[in-house]
Amino acid sequence: MESIWKEKVDGVITQSGSSRLSLLPCLEAVQEECGYIPHEAVNYLRECLSIPSIDIYGMITFYSLLSTNQKGKYVIRLCNSLPCYLNGTENILDTLVDNLGIEPGQTTLDRRFTLELVPCLGLCDQSPAMVINGVVYGKLTAQLVTEVLDELRTY
Ligand code: FES
Repeated sequence: MESIWKEKVDGVITQSGSSRLSLLPCLEAVQEECGYIPHEAVNYLRECLSIPSIDIYGMITFYSLLSTNQKGKYVIRLCNSLPCYLNGTENILDTLVDNLGIEPGQTTLDRRFTLELVPCLGLCDQSPAMVINGVVYGKLTAQLVTEVLDELRTY
């Protein structure tokens, strides 16, 4: 896995240069490849871009899509803002928690699923809504959530 993220980082730097402006695309490339930002990647970026580690971690903390915690193969991001809440987020969350056996912020032991509660996803017209690895699921019902999880378990 390491060589692949390094290749992607090198690709970004080749294309965009080794300035600070390349930091975010490099981090996004690592996040996409590994599902999180390992410490080795931070060290590599510190050397390649001449940016202090503290600044790199600062950017990781600032962007909610970046994380130093290893996540599951599928990251379930359930909106918990008011419009979705009023349309039944609580029931959807109960279904997810019961089905997966984890609480928000946790990852299943088999590292297949991570469950996150996030602010508005910009899908209010489809509330309650969640996004799994970039795929939108709207107008959620307990049955739909169960079907989606069952399907993802087969991959
Ligand atoms: S409030 Fe849930 S997507 Fe906007």
